Amino acid sequence: MRNVAEITLTGKDPADVRADALIVGVVNDNGTPKLAGQTLPKSVAKSLNASLEALGATGEIDNTVRIPSPEGVNAQITVLTGIGSDEDDTESLRRGAGAALQNADGFDRVALALPANTGKKVGAIAEGALLGAYRFQTYRAGDADNTPRSPKALELVVPSTREKTTRSAVERARIIAESVNGTRDLINTAPNDLPPAEFADRAKSSVKGTGLKIDVLDEKQLKADGYGGLTGVGQGSSRPPRLVKISWSPSKKAPHIALVGKGITFDSGGLSIKPSSGMETMKSDMSGAAAVLQTIVAAARLEVPVRVTAWLALAENMPSGTAQRPSDVISIYGGKTVEVLNTDAEGRLVLADALVAAQEDGADAVIDIATLTGAQMVALGSRVAGIMGTDKLRDEVVSSADSSGELAWPMPLPEEMRPTLESKVADIANIGQRWGGMLSAAVSLKEIIPETQWAHIDIAGPSFNEGSNWGYTPAGGTGYGVRTMLEFLENYSTK
Ligand code: BES
Ligand code: MN
Ligand code: ZN
Repeated sequence: MRNVAEITLTGKDPADVRADALIVGVVNDNGTPKLAGQTLPKSVAKSLNASLEALGATGEIDNTVRIPSPEGVNAQITVLTGIGSDEDDTESLRRGAGAALQNADGFDRVALALPANTGKKVGAIAEGALLGAYRFQTYRAGDADNTPRSPKALELVVPSTREKTTRSAVERARIIAESVNGTRDLINTAPNDLPPAEFADRAKSSVKGTGLKIDVLDEKQLKADGYGGLTGVGQGSSRPPRLVKISWSPSKKAPHIALVGKGITFDSGGLSIKPSSGMETMKSDMSGAAAVLQTIVAAARLEVPVRVTAWLALAENMPSGTAQRPSDVISIYGGKTVEVLNTDAEGRLVLADALVAAQEDGADAVIDIATLTGAQMVALGSRVAGIMGTDKLRDEVVSSADSSGELAWPMPLPEEMRPTLESKVADIANIGQRWGGMLSAAVSLKEIIPETQWAHIDIAGPSFNEGSNWGYTPAGGTGYGVRTMLEFLENYSTK
């Protein structure tokens, strides 16, 4: 996979490193900017410190300033990047490194001299830098005019290049960045190029050489086996649905976690069609499935000692003469019937099939991740995911998000929502009460697998950045969820 920049370690003095740019951290000490750590020769640091304020280097994250390198520094340009008020905070280092790299077009070789005195910090700097160096250029002609010249090689200044914790932290960061960037690539891919069958093919190529087992159910098998959610949602499209199952088995007997991802390759709303403004970002409605795929790839590379099964529920939601109608009744995998009152509430239908399959497969706990509701963004904005589920698992996923640096908040499953999902003709309807739409959607998922330990991550907002880049997060697909789920798997295995 070549969606990450090259990264190497150096034990040299930062001033001696040959590079197009040298990135140096600036902390914000109660409003006063100061160079972080002791990275530059004393005399250089002294005069630079005195000029930071005048240069506009504030020390706040996302503040980056380029200057000609001071005398005695080998790199041609020095980039001052803010790392906030605490130089020991790993997420601040990740964002400071990421912001510097997102703004490093024009430099081929970039060296980073940020506070790297522990393995954890080295890992955070490497991760932030590799995530910040991401560019999506699949559709660029490749000429200089419309292709940004992005950093190709990163050199990390560390106290010791031979330290084992340092080396393994960088290796782990590289694996994570490959998976997060791989998720971004899938999300950013135009929906005409990524119908369900193509997504399944890309899943097959992603698992090559990883020791993962993959099975793909096509539309005929889905229909024959009673996967009415995927069949119903996909029937309006000329490009039929798929269910992809990927399994990771560690060498020892271990608990079994299922990851389920919503993979609507384009969500037009179906016959309950969306207004065109609401459709513009709907190529990203497969972000959950992309994150699940890339999480299990990283889990295999890192050999997490827990059994993992990934389920990608892939369909395209389109209006046509063969599309499902509002008021159709479908039967999801396992036999429960659903009245489809609104064809734009399609995520829960495809997830329902996969959730029942995951439960039947014997998972000890199930996590699903989905761009499920616009209401998620009303409640939590565009950067913070909502996490619901059975109490213990929900809290564990929230704390995994916290320690991985992804923003998330726990949300309830109010019992008064359940009656609003009643159907006059079927076991359940696919829409409930409008107020608290994120919660009623989650309640409808819980109804499908009432006996299982389960957590649900609604990533409608954080999966796709409609604004401009910040920290290590680019515009477009963000890759949200990979780091939270991987962290969860690594922690679960140690319990
Ligand atoms: N994919 C959308 C949710 C979404 C909206 C994700 C905006 C990202 C940004 C989902 O399929 C959907 O359309 N949900 C409906 C549900 C409603 C019909 C009950 C919604 O949120 O409006
Ligand atoms: Mn929809
Ligand atoms: Zn959708």
